Amino acid sequence: MCNLSGKTVLIGITGGIAAYKACELVRMFKRNGANVKVIMTPNALNFVTELTLQNLSQNNVAIHEFEIDDFKPEHISLADEADIFVIAPATANTISKLANGICDNLLTSVACAFKKPVILAPAMNCNMWENKIIQENLKKLAELNYKIVEPESGFLACGYEGQGRLASVDKIFETALNELTANLPLKGKKILITAGGTIEEIDPVRYISNYSSGKMGFALAKTAKNLGAEVTLISTVPAAGAVMVKSALEMQKEVLAHFENMDAVFMAAAVADFRVKETAEQKIKKSGGTDEITLTLVKNPDILKTICNIKKEKHLGVQIIGFCAESENLLTNAKEKISQKGCDYLIANDISRKDIGFGSDENEVHILNANGGIEKIEKASKENIAKEILKRIWSTNMN
Ligand code: CTP
Repeated sequence: MCNLSGKTVLIGITGGIAAYKACELVRMFKRNGANVKVIMTPNALNFVTELTLQNLSQNNVAIHEFEIDDFKPEHISLADEADIFVIAPATANTISKLANGICDNLLTSVACAFKKPVILAPAMNCNMWENKIIQENLKKLAELNYKIVEPESGFLACGYEGQGRLASVDKIFETALNELTANLPLKGKKILITAGGTIEEIDPVRYISNYSSGKMGFALAKTAKNLGAEVTLISTVPAAGAVMVKSALEMQKEVLAHFENMDAVFMAAAVADFRVKETAEQKIKKSGGTDEITLTLVKNPDILKTICNIKKEKHLGVQIIGFCAESENLLTNAKEKISQKGCDYLIANDISRKDIGFGSDENEVHILNANGGIEKIEKASKENIAKEILKRIWSTNMN
């Protein structure tokens, strides 16, 4: 899953049998948070209904020109509004019209007025696909920066076998996604984030944990994704797409398996320093004649320190960011911690404050770097704090 909220995707459907596959494409963009607008050519209505696309896109479907209820003609407002135009399926007829600047319906008129990326996913009979005029027209469009998602070979609806079947919906979606994220500041960056408090089992029904809600890690994951990064989230709290773990040992295993290929690791999880020496296989019963029981705890590995040591030994380029939660002497403890752990940055939280930190949607932090620098980020939503942290680490403007 990726977050396309705030993006408007225009899907153009032309009159070919593959038009039914555009329904799944609309759903895919909707599932990923995009606002989807659909334009159909009158011929597309022979294959799928306006009502189907209206329901799936949760927007009115545009078909005819001159249905204007605004001062701006529809082909201009649709072209202005969308971030990308995905024409799937694109018939030989529409491809040829686009290549020659013909605007004889709403879809071709919008395409002519469209200044942002256009993706074309052709689908047609294999002999039509091989026709030199169609190939010339496609070449011309490709040279003009239209992104062509070539059709696949296989059994075609017309009974022929050959190239002409609409590319998979996944491939069309991915091509559009690449275009939408091409200029984002964290494009190409791989980021590992841990979130939540670890769960150290006592017996099958009880555990030791802490108050961490995972919200800071989730805010970092969401913000980094929106800025184009590829994010791996390791979490003790359920979240879409996360690698789920419980204990510190499980978290360590996953972090070690992933971190060496990353550009940055954010250890936002609250890792328990100790675990129960021997987890009871069966529920511990209170009947037994004693008013006291003793749990023996043993130290957990320090995941942050371990990866910092590996980074040094192997001269890895990964940036490692630790977090610390302190209830007193925030900066004195934080300074000691960054040098003791050996990380590149440490994000220090004051947990004595009730209005920020654990469980809250807001935070106020200090960012310490390995050279002794300290910067305060004033109270803000965890998402804005995340953006500020990412900005400092890559010294780029994230706006
Ligand atoms: N951390 C870790 N492994 C541990 C404990 C902590 O990787 N066993 C990481 C946390 O994810 C965090 C940083 O270390 O990024 C600091 O966590 P914190 O609990 O503040 O530090 P501790 O080293 O546990 O120090 P103390 O509890 O004594 O303050």
